[in-house]
Amino acid sequence: MEAPEQLTSGDFTAAAEPFRLFEEWFADARASEPNDPNAMALSTVDADGLPDVRMVLLNARDARGFVFFTNTGSAKGRELAAVPKAAAVFHWKSLRRQIRVRGPVETVSDAEADAYFASRPRLSQIGAWASQQSQPLESRFALETAVAKFTAHYALGEVPRPAHWTGYRIRPVQIEFWHDRPFRLHDRVVFRRESPDAGAWSRTRLYP
Ligand SMILES: Cc1cc2nc3c(=O)[nH]c(=O)nc-3n(C[C@H](O)[C@H](O)[C@H](O)COP(=O)(O)O)c2cc1C
Repeated sequence: MEAPEQLTSGDFTAAAEPFRLFEEWFADARASEPNDPNAMALSTVDADGLPDVRMVLLNARDARGFVFFTNTGSAKGRELAAVPKAAAVFHWKSLRRQIRVRGPVETVSDAEADAYFASRPRLSQIGAWASQQSQPLESRFALETAVAKFTAHYALGEVPRPAHWTGYRIRPVQIEFWHDRPFRLHDRVVFRRESPDAGAWSRTRLYP
């Protein structure tokens, strides 16, 4: 199925750089996806080099890169502490589009993490305190008890950001755009640069 008329398709393989194209496709996704258009599969590697993958939400993005938030003690947090590199993929099924991102990862500043944490619903803030993400949980009751404890503890005033909760920024050195075409003759274009601090991107069209 061809993409509907109103989509910003054009010849995306001729785009000069990837960030603007990302914004166009992300805007289309937000307009058309029924939920979580900002969901992306995030891949990291463990100490044995075994890849790991899970969904996270893209919560901020700018010319520096793509930011998600999580618990530093989670599996992904521990993996990123050891190997600060990641890959992410967005797949917008109804648009038949995919974007892949790869690069080194940095922790966001405390100010950025504080600002995003402050914008979250209070119950999510409490949840960040109550969840020892990816650690064994004895029972649902244990989690609810932890939520009750932190709800009481932070009954008054603002909930501060836990030290174990922050954001990570993927600083892309590679961004690939893929769009479905009939008979699996898909369009692909990949942008690469030497390092996240290098300004210029090279652009290469790829066989499907
Ligand atoms: C659509 C979707 C979005 C998610 N977003 C996040 C997120 O932004 N941050 C997060 O820590 N976990 C998120 N999760 C949960 C993760 O997929 C995962 O279960 C959790 O982070 C633990 O992963 P880990 O043990 O590999 O660290 C999301 C799950 C789904 C299905």
